Amino acid sequence: MKDTRILITGRLPEDIMASLAEKYAVDANMEDRPFDRQKLLQSIRDKDGLISMITDSVDEELLNVSARLKIIAHFGVGYNNIDVKAATLRGILVSNTPGVLTDATAELAFALILAISRRLVAGDRITREGRFQYWAPMLFLGREVTGKTLGIIGLGKIGKAVAMRAKGFAMRVLYHNRNRIDISEEKAFNAEYVSLKTLLMESDFVSLHVPLTEHTKHLIGADKLSLMKPTAYLINTSRGPVVDEQALLNALRERKIEGAGLDVYEHEPALTPGLTELDNVILLPHVGSGTLETRVRMATMAAENLIAGLNGEVPPNLVNPEALTHRGLIK
Ligand code: DGY
Repeated sequence: MKDTRILITGRLPEDIMASLAEKYAVDANMEDRPFDRQKLLQSIRDKDGLISMITDSVDEELLNVSARLKIIAHFGVGYNNIDVKAATLRGILVSNTPGVLTDATAELAFALILAISRRLVAGDRITREGRFQYWAPMLFLGREVTGKTLGIIGLGKIGKAVAMRAKGFAMRVLYHNRNRIDISEEKAFNAEYVSLKTLLMESDFVSLHVPLTEHTKHLIGADKLSLMKPTAYLINTSRGPVVDEQALLNALRERKIEGAGLDVYEHEPALTPGLTELDNVILLPHVGSGTLETRVRMATMAAENLIAGLNGEVPPNLVNPEALTHRGLIK
């Protein structure tokens, strides 16, 4: 009989599930859809550990019914779905999975840059529909990526990985962060620090790589979109609410910007009505970290964090070290 009980709210690779099941009594969601709220609240009650997904709202209500919970090992780098403050006050450790999804997410941002500017999705559609009937010099033109200006908002791990890829396309890279990075690093990434306004005004592609916080919610709204060039594209692989989606829809509809590549949505998985009718936007189902290799690494990391937390050790990717004091692990 295993005394320690864990809840895993999303289906993970089988071998990782199996190795956790050797140690703990595992309650896992084996469907590829989130638990509904009641099921989540009911399932967490008697658990010591949780591997959570971005689709779980880990709020005070949930924490109040999980008296035994010691660790929330989040499967993902962004953990805006977790009330970390409330967890910390209860001495519950929270960890995430940084680093292992950097390349996959940067690849997807770059895939969107190429796909929207060269009209890949629309091109595939007209070809399948039998509408490719002639080659002509001025038909179905896109815009070139090589040599253009890329504006990266949030030059953290993923932003830097996007900047590295931009070198291969001889792009000029501008960035804006709350804090400027070291000049030596700027040189390494060939990135120029500018104000948000300059970045928006000068970039051909604006790519978002900030976490969702109270400061970044609606960072890109109508005012910021109006600063962008009419030929520019917005790429969002960060979090949906960073963009005011209704304002973006209006800008795309009125061709105030050329297009957008989106992997995340303000009211995910719902889309702002009208978005699907536009042909100057590519819409993906939140797959930034969605490669087999990356998801295995994320699951491994989440499991390691969980095990450490349940063993009374400090999880390698702890995001709330203050919780150690609340839990009495540090005096
Ligand atoms: C992440 O890791 O933040 C991904 O977007 C999945 O939530």
